[in-house]
Amino acid sequence: FWAKVPQAPKDPILGITEKFLADEDPCKMNLGVGAYRTDQGKPVVLDCVREAEKRIAGNFNMEYLPIGGLKEFNDLSVKLAYGDECAAIAEARVASIQTLSGTGSCRLMADFMHKFAPDATVYIPSPTWANHHNIWRDANVAQTSFRYYKPSTRGLDFEGMIEDIQTAPSGSFFLLHACAHNPTGVDPTSEQWSEISAVMKEKGHFPFFDMAYQGFASGDCVHDARAIRIFLDDGHQLGCSQSYAKNMGLYGQRVGCFSIVCSDSEEASAVESQMKAIARPMYSNPPVYGARIVTTVLGDEELKELWYKEVKGMADRIIHMRTLLRENLEGIGSSLPWNHVTDQIGMFCFSGLTPEQVDELANDHHIYMTRNGRISMAGVTSGTVGRLAEAMHKVTSG
Ligand code: LMR
Repeated sequence: FWAKVPQAPKDPILGITEKFLADEDPCKMNLGVGAYRTDQGKPVVLDCVREAEKRIAGNFNMEYLPIGGLKEFNDLSVKLAYGDECAAIAEARVASIQTLSGTGSCRLMADFMHKFAPDATVYIPSPTWANHHNIWRDANVAQTSFRYYKPSTRGLDFEGMIEDIQTAPSGSFFLLHACAHNPTGVDPTSEQWSEISAVMKEKGHFPFFDMAYQGFASGDCVHDARAIRIFLDDGHQLGCSQSYAKNMGLYGQRVGCFSIVCSDSEEASAVESQMKAIARPMYSNPPVYGARIVTTVLGDEELKELWYKEVKGMADRIIHMRTLLRENLEGIGSSLPWNHVTDQIGMFCFSGLTPEQVDELANDHHIYMTRNGRISMAGVTSGTVGRLAEAMHKVTSG
């Protein structure tokens, strides 16, 4: 039956982990996938999560959740994204559904577009997280890119981005990274977000925010949601994907939320019903455990405070690693500019290394990262940063 099935190419991000696992060198470093490590290089389960688990233990059965997931979870999630005072929430204009983390949310948005805006094209930033392309491709939605990153400055191509937003046909769909853009670590400033919002409003575009890192960029959940709040204040109807993989360390629990801000409660009710109609034949209903953890943490003031503290601790450690990496590179005499290492924000450093240099790092130094030169700073530690800098210096000075 399947003799003609060709081998699929390895995933550009998760495929790196496979290569890393096959390397037997004791000093190997996996800086591919975006997964937080402690300064000892270990995965972490947050204290707020452990405490939530204790409170949950023995208190719940394992029955199915409804198709839309845990209602309290969805309500707390949209408040976290849009703010406690959000008018759209008060007016019951937000349709929401629990999802299989960020990928699941994006896929639901893509399927929703395919079903209810079949002629639409999604505008995707160049570059973006590799999986975004797969998601909209498999949902049969046409995609095109808009300018975002300028390699010459290793910063935002703001003029290019505005021009592309302006020239897109009115009513286009734009995928935006709410904060900590993956892979570049380059975010617009608040002033730039305001301008982007104004131009998108003028054009009647639909903004869809992928927010995989709320709290993880700056350490402050409100600050990291500022783009969304600016758009809401400007009266946009918008969509949002939330993930608790990084900011609550719930990677493998696959817990997230997809929401759409609608024009009134009737529309929101119809939209929510259709989100469920898409989810049901795909995976029936979402997993229960992660949603209970998040609900317990966000629903309890004390645990929520603890979470804020812990998420800030993770963000601060990453920011510190950026400083150390830059200091080390400059300290060992690299004459290249490394200011972007500390200028960028979030889990990743878009280093500027070429695919060949990345290959050399893997082959000669046992250091693994994606071939676009993206370094997961969350995997760097004070014990390994020196070796990373030395290896980067070697491959860039040859
Ligand atoms: C990443 O970009 O490394 C993460 O979002 C993990 C993934 O699923 O690709």
